[in-house]
Amino acid sequence: MTMVRILDTTLRDGEQAPGFSMTPEGKLRMAKALAALNVDVIEAGFAASGQRDADAIAEIARQVEGPVICSLARATRGDILAASAALAPAPRRRIHVFIGTSPLHREFKLHMSREKVLENIRTAIAYARGFTDDVEFSAEDAIRTERDYLVECLSAAAEAGATTLNVPDTVGYTTPDEIYDLFRFLTANVDCSDETIFSAHNHDDLGMAVANSLAAIRGGARQVECAMNGIGERAGNCALEDIVMALKTRADFFQAETAIDTTRIMAASRILAQITNTPPPRNKSIVGANAFAHESGIHQHGILQNRETYEIMKPEDIGLATEAIVLGKHSGRHALAARAQALGYVLTGEKLESAFTAFRTVADEVGIVDTARLLALLAEQESGRPQ
Ligand code: KIV
Ligand code: ZN
Repeated sequence: MTMVRILDTTLRDGEQAPGFSMTPEGKLRMAKALAALNVDVIEAGFAASGQRDADAIAEIARQVEGPVICSLARATRGDILAASAALAPAPRRRIHVFIGTSPLHREFKLHMSREKVLENIRTAIAYARGFTDDVEFSAEDAIRTERDYLVECLSAAAEAGATTLNVPDTVGYTTPDEIYDLFRFLTANVDCSDETIFSAHNHDDLGMAVANSLAAIRGGARQVECAMNGIGERAGNCALEDIVMALKTRADFFQAETAIDTTRIMAASRILAQITNTPPPRNKSIVGANAFAHESGIHQHGILQNRETYEIMKPEDIGLATEAIVLGKHSGRHALAARAQALGYVLTGEKLESAFTAFRTVADEVGIVDTARLLALLAEQESGRPQ
């Protein structure tokens, strides 16, 4: 089995998307949930984007144990200095340096020649290595960069000291066949040591971020960058829950695994939904309220005979409580609060009272309130909207 590292960018790429901004307290709470998931790297923010983000990164670096803590930085001294200062309290820290490499980025955004971009890569990576020996380089818009030039950029970064080479599909443009071929080509042609990790970072503009990340792994990627609930710029990033559960469920095919404790997935998803006040859609794979719900008679009949008739994963594998305690109209506040907590919702005081009133109404209607219904109820309470 090949080990694939998970870099979680919920708190950076995810947080920078409209509707998903988080308070520093929210970021810290989410970072703790990501550490409980056992992600390899937490990209905690972009320190140079402002003092608030820098402070949030520093707090995460101080308080969150386990994963490597990372800050994004443009290929400039100022950004790298800001990243290194924010990361200083972390026992293990990564500086993630990026610059646009495609013709569109060079000409219209950076106004730089190919040579100038190469020079910036060399200088910035060498400078970042002065602060930590864990430096990642991203060739922004790599997918639309000339292949020979992309090899030059990645080789230059590796020579200057980058230990992870990230190949982002910044605009979600590639396809599984194309990115598989690209990773095969890059792993064969980039001049770097055998220890260098090739990384995939896919956006979901055409709905292919997860498929493209899986194809990149087959092509040689050993790190995937993803975000909880798939949040991120525009249509979002590769969803952490999807890539992790795809690798776990189809290990027979991919022959790859991650270190993620999948039983923490549901709680992390709900915490993010609470912090951002945005639950994932009901039909979202893995974490949506319907993902493990069976409504139709034919499906229910099959499930009652053998769960595998309509379930390819066990709800317990993602931390959905098995129904050891049945929640119904006779259940009390304690049982409701305990089950809600297992799903990532903290219910106390007025929140508990309001959720309990809604729960009683549903229980009077349907008898037993199963996990899917409970999730929908909790999400509705949280957002004030029917799910
Ligand atoms: O999408 C992208 O190119 C990025 C990089 C900064 C890694 O988020
Ligand atoms: Zn991105």
